Amino acid sequence: DSTTVLIVGAGPAGLVLGNLLKAAGVDCLILERQSRAYVERRARAGFLAANTVRILEENGLAAGLLRDGRQHDTCLFRSEHAEFELKYSGLGRGEVHTVYPQQDLVRDLIAEFLDRGGELRFETAVAEVNDIGSDRPWIVCRNADGELQRWNGRYVAGCDGRHGVSRQAVPVGAVRQYRRDHGISWLALLAEAPQSMAAVAYAIHDEGFAGHMARSASVTRYYLQCARGEDPQGWSDRRIWDELQLRMQADRYGPLHQGPILERRVVDMASHVMDPIQYGRLFLVGDAASLISPSAAKGANLAVMEAEILAKALIADLRDDDERPLARYSEDCLPRIWRAQEFSHWMINLLHGPAGNDDEAVFLRALQRARLESLRNSRRHQDHFAENYVGI
Ligand code: APR
Repeated sequence: DSTTVLIVGAGPAGLVLGNLLKAAGVDCLILERQSRAYVERRARAGFLAANTVRILEENGLAAGLLRDGRQHDTCLFRSEHAEFELKYSGLGRGEVHTVYPQQDLVRDLIAEFLDRGGELRFETAVAEVNDIGSDRPWIVCRNADGELQRWNGRYVAGCDGRHGVSRQAVPVGAVRQYRRDHGISWLALLAEAPQSMAAVAYAIHDEGFAGHMARSASVTRYYLQCARGEDPQGWSDRRIWDELQLRMQADRYGPLHQGPILERRVVDMASHVMDPIQYGRLFLVGDAASLISPSAAKGANLAVMEAEILAKALIADLRDDDERPLARYSEDCLPRIWRAQEFSHWMINLLHGPAGNDDEAVFLRALQRARLESLRNSRRHQDHFAENYVGI
């Protein structure tokens, strides 16, 4: 069996790419390891940048988010010394976030891809990606019945996320791997409770960071900085709410709306960038190309940005016989990936100070306070913050 573009993974990257290729009449096949029900239920991100909404709108993929998405333009910083909020619709380029749970976007993108006649195989795991240095790459996948199938293609798009296989097909010496373990871990929580405030809230506290962000009318996302290797099951609902109330200074600013904790998992803050994010006929997109910490809600937005760039490049090559955009894919994406990485790194150091009372920790926490004060007092800094926080 063969197709023109083999897409590994049906997350935001693979589904946006597939929809754009299908709309341009390019033959493609998406292979997704999980079931449809699983990917449509998997709660991940939910803050869509303006560029992401533009791409989805321009390609007829935004019906759901325009109907149910909610504009968001305020973030609030709470420390033991002060609280202030930034309305970023009046800052930077005046862009705002659209809050729309990622699983809802994935659901919409799957439905649209199938409506466009796209071929999407669920419960089909790609085991190998071969001959990406030739003009006849091929993959081996295993379907739900355990049968092995071979698919030939002209191009392979590795949209298989943080734990994907496609990037392993790239010869080790052919790419630079940039990695950083930020040494910070978050207990990522989903609570069945309405949001406690109209803003995204970042609480900076000596006990550690706590975050609050809306997901839907009835579910709210919270984060609690925790020790590396922490067992999420060691956190009862009671202990979670007590710690959230403490770090968000509920006694001073009002109680949080509590409810059952639906999901708890530990996320280790790590960054990873490959350079280049292409090799021969393999092109990496989204988390498969670069991993970013959730501290600035960039992951899904980078995935959609790269998917648009790659779709346009593949269409230029396949329809207009112009190979230049494809050759330039990595250099078109990497500067924006690094800009997002830099901002995310700055956010990590704004929200977290190292524990301990040695000189280094005490000094770095003083820098953290100065960072927060600069953001609080300087309009120029707020413009720069807004441009990076919402932009891609
Ligand atoms: N074969 C087939 N599918 C695979 C394989 C494989 N070997 N390995 C992974 N997948 C699938 C996963 O099941 C997942 O559905 O690839 C998809 C990758 O999707 P994401 O992890 O969502 O990655 P991406 O599309 O790059 O989106 C990036 O979205 O997940 C959020 O915020 C998160 O930053 C992340 C962003």
